[in-house]
Amino acid sequence: MRVVVLTGAGISAESGVPTFRDADGLWEGHRVEDVATPEAFERDPDTVHRFYDARRAHLSTVEPNAAHRALAGLERDGRHRLLVVTQNVDDLHERAGSRDVVHMHGELLSARCLACDGRFRSDAPLVDRPRCPGCGERALRPDIVWFGELPYELDRIQSALERADLFVSIGTSGAVYPAAGFVSAARAYGARTVELNLEPSHGTDLFHDARHGPAGTVVPSWAAGLTPTG
Ligand code: APR
Repeated sequence: MRVVVLTGAGISAESGVPTFRDADGLWEGHRVEDVATPEAFERDPDTVHRFYDARRAHLSTVEPNAAHRALAGLERDGRHRLLVVTQNVDDLHERAGSRDVVHMHGELLSARCLACDGRFRSDAPLVDRPRCPGCGERALRPDIVWFGELPYELDRIQSALERADLFVSIGTSGAVYPAAGFVSAARAYGARTVELNLEPSHGTDLFHDARHGPAGTVVPSWAAGLTPTG
């Protein structure tokens, strides 16, 4: 089977990476519009850099969990063709061993240059304004897709959804488009659709099947029971 897996913050929650939509509406103490929009970056780049620098530094203190490992195992065992499309900007899928991963909302361990538009692997704090390795300008920004910006690799995702036999959504609230629309697209193209989330997401009724519980438990058990036809 061709399997497209969409992941969100919930898959990394048990690793200790906070999700976005906490009950108080704040994201690690910040309003989203103060740190995750191009306008916020223009207005106050130091605050935005410090916010992402701290999240990048936090990555070295967390590890992939059983859900990341179960997806990597599915890809490795080769019975199915797996593409992981993640909204997450952490590197936990890769550290668990997944190879085919699309970071549609960018990556903490990447920086983008506003002068030459290059994208570079980088774990340096950007608040220090390091030079761009490509053009030498001090014009790097976090390689994060902010609200109002276009996610990466939408063409590749679209064609994977068109060909998918199975679409699985893991640990995402279904609140942010275009990712929240992938289930309907996959269904329209004929895929079976499964939701694995702590609780019913906004779009839970759009799925053929839903299993609710912590990803570290639900994902390995779903993966272990996956038959040749889903
Ligand atoms: N296991 C499974 N699901 C969990 C767990 C867990 N242990 N903990 C929380 N969840 C679920 C929550 O119930 C919620 O439905 O994960 C979901 C997380 O939702 P959000 O915080 O909204 O994260 P996400 O869907 O990834 O957000 C999408 O919004 O802010 C933007 O760009 C950002 O990529 C992000 C996008």
